[in-house]
Amino acid sequence: MKALVLAGGSGSRLRPITHTSAKQLVPVANKPVLFYGLESISAAGVREIGIVTGDTAAEIEEAVGDGSRFGLEVTYLRQEAPLGLAHGVLIAREYLGDDDFVMYLGDNFIVGGFADLAARFRRLRPAAQLMLTHTSTPQAFGVAELDAAGQVVGLEEKPTHPKSDLALAGVYMFTPAVHGIVAHLKPSVRGELEITDAIQGLIDAGERVDSTTITGYWKDTGNVDDMLEVNRNVLETLEPQIAGSVTESDLVGRVAVAEGAQVVRSRIVGPVTVGPDAVIHDSYIGPFTSIEGGCRINASEIEYSIVLRGASIEGMRRIERSLIGRESQIVPAPPTPRAHRLVLGDHSQVRIST
Ligand code: G1P
Repeated sequence: MKALVLAGGSGSRLRPITHTSAKQLVPVANKPVLFYGLESISAAGVREIGIVTGDTAAEIEEAVGDGSRFGLEVTYLRQEAPLGLAHGVLIAREYLGDDDFVMYLGDNFIVGGFADLAARFRRLRPAAQLMLTHTSTPQAFGVAELDAAGQVVGLEEKPTHPKSDLALAGVYMFTPAVHGIVAHLKPSVRGELEITDAIQGLIDAGERVDSTTITGYWKDTGNVDDMLEVNRNVLETLEPQIAGSVTESDLVGRVAVAEGAQVVRSRIVGPVTVGPDAVIHDSYIGPFTSIEGGCRINASEIEYSIVLRGASIEGMRRIERSLIGRESQIVPAPPTPRAHRLVLGDHSQVRIST
């Protein structure tokens, strides 16, 4: 079995972060979300993986390399435009050959991986094996309808009137039967070749489509709230470890301070992870915060946030529910005139309390 990881797409809901960086590389607990997926592919016993990339190809290739550190052999497949998940399968046709494969969406996050699902698929080899999860917002996803025996009888992409609350999560397993259907797909109303339509095509052709409804945690990290929520979830299981230096500070709960980081006259209430060479002075870092390497936080309070590499925050009380981009600078303005001066990237969103 091979794996096909989809790591293209434009990441429009994570702008402006995704103007300069791939959405699959936004870190969760200081590790790119894509790496969790690569680890679970490796843990499911898959070795050969094709990664479909788009405009951010160079960045993804630099981060993942040849895949050997995950125990994987990576082949990069270039998608010229984000034309849909099934388009990813179409361009991977030659790479996949006649092998079974698992398709994994690079911005999805699944606690516990999918090794059980892969074992079941290898044993029974239905034309497709889907991973489903109950959701309160089925309109935002592909939705599956099951019969009394649990067999998938119908699928719809982002339906206005969903027939169930079962969303397609970002892991799909296929035999080569899917290629015959994908070759004849027509673009959907959003102009994409939908994998949901391809699976419906398998059902219409009388092929067996099985599903497993997971009870574990799953999220599509498409927007900032989801990103923060996944970060919270991962930090819940953080191993406390202090490798950096901590002076005149109070650390409560699960806190990790990486090598070269300095924490001085500060209070950190975990779970919190602080990356290498970050410097935190006279500050409060509250629960569910990930601070990447090289950040500087001085005389500030921050919680339930993700701060990316090299950002600096000075004299801020107080930052919450925020995703702060690489090398950003947040500094206090002089008290007069009472006005905000902003230099924001395109599509930035700022909420300022006045
Ligand atoms: C895609 C699929 C959808 C699936 C979702 C899971 O949606 O089209 O069926 O439920 O991923 O993350 P998209 O992220 O392209 O809107």
